[in-house]
Amino acid sequence: MAAISWVPQLETGIEVIDKQHRRWVEIYNALDAAVQAGREEDALTKALTDLVEYSRYHFRTEEALMERASYDEEEFDLHRREHKVFTDQVVIYQDRATAGFQKLTPQVMAYLRDWLLAHVTGTDRGYITPLREAGIA
Ligand SMILES: [Fe+2]
Ligand SMILES: [Fe+2]
Repeated sequence: MAAISWVPQLETGIEVIDKQHRRWVEIYNALDAAVQAGREEDALTKALTDLVEYSRYHFRTEEALMERASYDEEEFDLHRREHKVFTDQVVIYQDRATAGFQKLTPQVMAYLRDWLLAHVTGTDRGYITPLREAGIA
């Protein structure tokens, strides 16, 4: 798979979010680089764990901001559910990788990459205006 390069379409204009998204992309790219370099299993599991942990941290930040902004309940629910689907899926990959029976195949990497890009350029954009209107961003 390929590394993700930061492009203007990934910007939300909300400082704390953009900072986290950039870091998240860096962590994804570190995992991608480790896979490409054929690093040993321990290093890969560690890189995948970094991604899981950072994703959780980032989702918590976003969810707290949406809550503060009294974000539309239905939208909030959908957004939260997307975060959960991703986290659950990545934890499955992590468990399988730790157990040693799943390699981080191009398909797994594509899932992570596509999800991240689609979520940041899609669902995440939904809170930009409400956060601004609530004076949070
Ligand atoms: Fe996000
Ligand atoms: Fe999100």
